[in-house]
Amino acid sequence: MQAKLIVDKDFTIGEVDKRIYGSFIEHLGRAVYGGIYEPGHPSADEQGFRGDVMELIRGIDVPIVRYPGGNFVSGYNWEDGVGPVELRPRRLELAWRTVEPNLFGLGEFVDWCRKAGTAPMMAVNLGTRGPEEARQLVEYSNHPSGTYWSDLRVQHGYKAPHAIKTWCLGNEMDGPWQIGAKTAEEYGRIAAETAKVMKWVDPSIELVACGSSALGMPTFPEWERTVLDLSYNEVDYISLHQYYGNRDKDSANFLAQSMGMDAFIGSVIATCDYIQAKKRSKKKLHLSFDEWNVWYHSNEADSRIEPWSVAPPQLEDVYNHEDALLVGSMLISMLKRADRVKMACMAQLVNVIAPIMTETGGGAWKQTIYYPYMHTSIFGRGTVLVPLVESPKYDAKDYTDVPYLDAIAVHNAEAGEVTVFAVNRHLSESLPLSVDLRSFGSFRLIEHIVLESDDLKAANTKAAPDRVAPHTRGNAVVESSGSGLAASLGKASWNVIRVK
Ligand code: AHR
Repeated sequence: MQAKLIVDKDFTIGEVDKRIYGSFIEHLGRAVYGGIYEPGHPSADEQGFRGDVMELIRGIDVPIVRYPGGNFVSGYNWEDGVGPVELRPRRLELAWRTVEPNLFGLGEFVDWCRKAGTAPMMAVNLGTRGPEEARQLVEYSNHPSGTYWSDLRVQHGYKAPHAIKTWCLGNEMDGPWQIGAKTAEEYGRIAAETAKVMKWVDPSIELVACGSSALGMPTFPEWERTVLDLSYNEVDYISLHQYYGNRDKDSANFLAQSMGMDAFIGSVIATCDYIQAKKRSKKKLHLSFDEWNVWYHSNEADSRIEPWSVAPPQLEDVYNHEDALLVGSMLISMLKRADRVKMACMAQLVNVIAPIMTETGGGAWKQTIYYPYMHTSIFGRGTVLVPLVESPKYDAKDYTDVPYLDAIAVHNAEAGEVTVFAVNRHLSESLPLSVDLRSFGSFRLIEHIVLESDDLKAANTKAAPDRVAPHTRGNAVVESSGSGLAASLGKASWNVIRVK
């Protein structure tokens, strides 16, 4: 068994838009309350933002964070979350069957983003509301002053506009679970009209239309075709959402699922380009993969949660080693289409299907999936190179010809570095790999980072927060020819090989 990766600096896919390393904070479970916001916590600042969580987030360098939902946004009145906290209403929150105290809202989120070194990506409610409330929200957020809504923001203590550039037009509007779900025709029209007035208020903003909630939705890809036919000129991105799980306890099949993601991305690009052709448009639509992750571990526990409490422990997946491998492959899938995938949000950031876990009142730690997310965000910036991959393959339950090697290389010309990200999907054997870097001249190895474990189900918990953690004892070496690398990738491992 031998695998090979050939890359050349002149054969490029595209520049990485750093926003593909975005994430997501929803008013759901303990993402906000007990996650990023916990007044009284020993690490909290004067606004109640947890410092320990912020430090872990800074470690990933998250460039953009989507807010406030998710399903939550489809029943949300943004006005409930601004102004004096003591006047804000407690509301029944129907999407997740909780009580929302509205102690944290738009202003707090924007402040938190600035402190965390990230940018806000705001979603508007197109479930129970429409263009009117959306344009008012843009006016409140982005108009300097001198009008009712912008002056209200000033009155609330924010003289400078929030300057929110990126906006989502609703959330998963095709899903029957969505408050105010719509047909593609209904949504396409409302999305176009909402986009129009939002951009009339602030022409500098960019807008994401909802695509299907998942590749497996019966409406996919007809939904995309119809929605874009009705809104192509008004919007800038179409969203993709996809979660995977290993319910059948079939790890070989589980790790192959990023091939479904490759196909999903390809089909959405094709649909966008079909509409572009149909409209004889010069505009190329880009993709915002604004929800993606592994999500299944917590499903059963969630079904036992009593409704109508504040911030219950919902969607608290405890991630294991194999989850980190699939997350690595999902990141590779997005890098492979860096030419069109310009934004993406790991769903979510803290506690709720997240790379960071906290104990309310206690500590914070890194889940296994933190590592591939951090590695790609830190080292995966620059130009993605076309990956010529030769690899032995296997057949799984839902996918055939699955390459054991999943790999991509990113060239950071500014730093003079090339980073290879590689997963060995083989569950019991290591995979010898040669990397041909023919056009890069001479280089030296900086490091070979490896995330591996003898137990695919090993997880990080409060009691053992570092059970699965990367090391830099990878065995990659520069070949004697000087133009390539040789390594043996451990069974079921995530690898980051950096050269300069
Ligand atoms: O991220 C959790 C939920 O998954 C979001 O609220 C929703 O958009 C999706 O179904």
